[in-house]
Amino acid sequence: FSSMDAILRPKLFDFHGVSMTKFFTENWENIQNFQARPDDILIATYPKAGTTWVSNILDLLYFGQREKPIPIYERVPFLEIFHSAMGVDLADKLPTSPRLIKTHLPVQFVPKSFWEQKSRIVYVARNAKDNVVSYFHFDRMNKIEPEPGDWSSYLQRFKQGEMVFGSWYDHVSNWWKKKQTYSNLHYMFFEDMVEDTGREIDKLCSFLGLTPSVEEKTRIVGEVHFDKMKKDDMANYSTVPVLNFKISPFMRKGKVGDWKNHFTVAQNEEFDEDYKTKMKDPTLQFRSKI
Ligand code: A3P
Repeated sequence: FSSMDAILRPKLFDFHGVSMTKFFTENWENIQNFQARPDDILIATYPKAGTTWVSNILDLLYFGQREKPIPIYERVPFLEIFHSAMGVDLADKLPTSPRLIKTHLPVQFVPKSFWEQKSRIVYVARNAKDNVVSYFHFDRMNKIEPEPGDWSSYLQRFKQGEMVFGSWYDHVSNWWKKKQTYSNLHYMFFEDMVEDTGREIDKLCSFLGLTPSVEEKTRIVGEVHFDKMKKDDMANYSTVPVLNFKISPFMRKGKVGDWKNHFTVAQNEEFDEDYKTKMKDPTLQFRSKI
């Protein structure tokens, strides 16, 4: 492309019932035909739920400190991305075992080989209010996302599912349902990780059958602290040109409850009313404060 800008700020369109952009649908056949392996670990999230955090934890658990620094998006390829690199190609070329692979796909779009191979899946979910705030700031700074517009229209579109990767409500709920029939799925919450990272790493390790030493675990907890990751150029995405850190950093706040600085009282009331109509399963509960 002679002018990168011409392909940036893509349009949203309906893709099999989910709002998507070309950056995640162009390579669809190759994505759907991706060959998963039994030892693959798929990290699945709705965007901005803590993907990078859990990716870094998993990478440290399996591979420790790398001799040569490698950015997180190369250590953990983004399966469906079709931009400067193609996620499926990066994943195919990963020399490691297990392979750690990231996806934001709604559960019904996950390539079938992951289910056939019974690969392990780590799903991370984050409360809707902080998730939409984080997504808003991300879309402001990331030119491969559609223009976010102003906050109140953005919030409206979030409720309607008009976001890249579709409805948050459907995403978290359908992955939650999958857990009932697919035992190799570990469902985590961003809020739990903020509350007690060590405890959540323990749970993750027992799911994965890992037994790190106390020292190793302590080291990892320190390594993945927000302040540490914010400064870590191999984790903070500062090396990606389409991201404009002058508008907002990738490692923005890393908190539970920042939504209170964005939602008006009226927006909050409307949001809660609408939420009740969409989230009917009493077994799936989120915390928007801790
Ligand atoms: P905020 O925008 O609320 O700060 P993802 O990796 O899925 O894109 O999610 C990004 C969100 O996770 C951002 O939220 C980011 O700051 C937060 N995050 C990333 N690493 C974190 C860490 N180590 N501790 C706490 N939050 C973290």
